[in-house]
Amino acid sequence: MTHSSANAANAGTFTIGGDLAVHRLGFGAMRITGKGIWGPPADHDEAIRTLRRLPELGVNFIDTADSYGPDVSEWLIREALHPYRKGLVIATKGGLTRSGPDIWRPVGRPEYLLQQVHKSLRNLGVEQIDLWQLHRIDPKVAADEQFDAVRSFIDQKLIRHAGLSEVSVDDIKAASKFFDVATVQNRYNLVDRTSEDVLDYCTAQNIGFIPWFPLAAGDLAKPGSILDTMAGKYGAHPSQLALAWILKRSPVMLPIPGTSKVAHLEQNVAAASITLSDEDFAALDGEGRKAFQSAP
Ligand SMILES: NC(=O)c1ccc[n+]([C@@H]2O[C@H](COP(=O)([O-])OP(=O)(O)OC[C@H]3O[C@@H](n4cnc5c(N)ncnc54)[C@H](OP(=O)(O)O)[C@@H]3O)[C@@H](O)[C@H]2O)c1
Repeated sequence: MTHSSANAANAGTFTIGGDLAVHRLGFGAMRITGKGIWGPPADHDEAIRTLRRLPELGVNFIDTADSYGPDVSEWLIREALHPYRKGLVIATKGGLTRSGPDIWRPVGRPEYLLQQVHKSLRNLGVEQIDLWQLHRIDPKVAADEQFDAVRSFIDQKLIRHAGLSEVSVDDIKAASKFFDVATVQNRYNLVDRTSEDVLDYCTAQNIGFIPWFPLAAGDLAKPGSILDTMAGKYGAHPSQLALAWILKRSPVMLPIPGTSKVAHLEQNVAAASITLSDEDFAALDGEGRKAFQSAP
């Protein structure tokens, strides 16, 4: 699949929270930081080039978090793209602390979450965060206390919409008593179907579902796998087919493949132009489920 006509608009649109329309193929900004999602990226200029390529490719939905770097990802987004184009939606998250590379510990105390919302506002250079997601529900703090804090951020107009990350259907129902859950961000891809029930619930409720790790196609991307064979049929890279499959899986699906490289970004966005036939979608779906069920 060529990259010359790549445009995220080809993935169609989804309206987050009923008023923020985005092209369904977004960008995950976790990979523009250092190793272990810690500190600055190895190649600062390429990270900036990657971010600046987003609007040219029609990508108008960026996912980040206070904990990516920490702060580094939000700072780079501001450096590359501020003042922001009208229509660009930047989603961030809070609730995970960082005390070293690859260390992620939840803290859901309301005063900490409020501090992080204010830090993200300053880091991104915005007056209101379009979409703020509770990165994890902290098991050491009453869930209701955390949901009530999120509701207060909406009431104070610090954030426009709120979402959740790594949650169950029951968590979404519990949070919905406090605020309208605009999005859910769970790990999901062709061969990781742990969150299938959450995806079905989000589809039924028109809640945006943001699958993280969308490119982890695992064994299916290896030579000889069904993705590989079918990729040839569509003249595509296996990772592009994994994205085409995920986009077709549900109209509320908002994949955010992450990369620090312009070339990979262009390749990923080109996947928005692939239209899988219903038969090929079903064949991939079946293989993905089989691989998931037989995974150790
Ligand atoms: N809510 C959560 O708990 C949570 C957890 C993890 C991630 N996230 C979010 O989800 C986003 C996506 O997840 P992810 O970044 O972990 O996984 P991913 O998008 O499935 O894969 C990213 C990895 O694939 C590589 N890659 C990307 N495009 C490629 C291409 N076309 N060809 C070859 N390699 C390619 C990237 O390396 P290069 O930089 O070399 O391209 C990177 O190492 C993150 O950026 C972040 O915003 C959320």
